[in-house]
Amino acid sequence: MEIIITDSPKLVAERSANLIQNLINKNPYPVLGLATGSTPVALYEKLIDLYKNNFLSFKNVTTFNLDEYVGLDPEHLQSYRYFMNEKLFNHLDINIENTHLPDGMKENPLESGPEYESLIKKAGGIDLQVLGIGANSHIGFNEPTSSLGSRTRIKTLTQKTMKDNSRFFKKDEFQPHLAVTMGISTIMESRKIILLATGKNKADAVKNAVEGPVTSVCPASALQWHPNTTVIVDFDAAEKLEYKDYYKFVLLEQDKLIQRFGGNQV
Ligand code: GLP
Repeated sequence: MEIIITDSPKLVAERSANLIQNLINKNPYPVLGLATGSTPVALYEKLIDLYKNNFLSFKNVTTFNLDEYVGLDPEHLQSYRYFMNEKLFNHLDINIENTHLPDGMKENPLESGPEYESLIKKAGGIDLQVLGIGANSHIGFNEPTSSLGSRTRIKTLTQKTMKDNSRFFKKDEFQPHLAVTMGISTIMESRKIILLATGKNKADAVKNAVEGPVTSVCPASALQWHPNTTVIVDFDAAEKLEYKDYYKFVLLEQDKLIQRFGGNQV
C-alpha cells in the first residue's frame, strides 16, 4: 500500500484527480470505478474543473459505481444515480449510457448483482477504482463481517451506517436499509485502487484498514492484499497512523527513483 498524507481535503482531491487524469490521458478507453458519499465530492469538482479547462475529456470513459440503494428510483434525490448525475456526470462530456450503477429497482433485486458483474466483465474490468471509507471501515456497502470473497450482491446496512447516512435524508423520509454493492472480491479485481479519507471521524477506520490485521470485521483491511492501492488522506484522517513518518520517507525515496528512472504512477 502506498500512503499519501496531505495537508488538507483540497489536496486529497487534487492528488486523486492527478491519478485519474494520468489514467484517462494514457488509456484510450479507460474504465473508472466511482464512489458516492461526501468525501469524493471535492475530487469530482476538480475533475469538472479539468474538463471545463480542456485538460481532460470523458468522451471515451466508462464508469461503474460501487453501490446503489434498493428501492430508490434514479429520480429520487437520495439515490446514488441522482447523486452521480448531479455531482459529476451532468457536467462532463461523458456518454451517460456508459455510466453504470447497480440496479436497485429490479423486481427481483437478487438478479442485480450477477448482472452488474457481467457488465463489468464485458467492459474489460475496472482500471482505477475510487473508494471512500465508512467510519466502521466499510467500502462500498460491504459492512463489517462481509466475506472478503464477496461479489456484487445485496447487503443489509448496519445501524451505524444508517445513522451516518441519515444526514442525507429528510426527517421521516424512507431510508433504505438494503443496498446492492460491489463485493470485496469485485473491488479487489480493479487494477488500481485509490482510497480517500478526510477528517478526524475517519482516523480509526484508516488506522484499522492500513495498520490493523486483515479481517472481515474491517472490510477495508482487505486492500492490504491488493498490489496497487494508494491511500490518500488528510492530516486529520491520518492522525492515528503509527508509521506516518515512514510513509513520508517512502514517498521521498520514490520521488528520487522516479526522477532518476522515470515512472508511471497509475
Ligand atoms: C456510503 C457509501 C460509501 C462511502 C461512505 C462514506 O456508505 N456507500 O461508498 O465511502 O458512505 O461516506 P462519506 O464520504 O460521506 O463519509
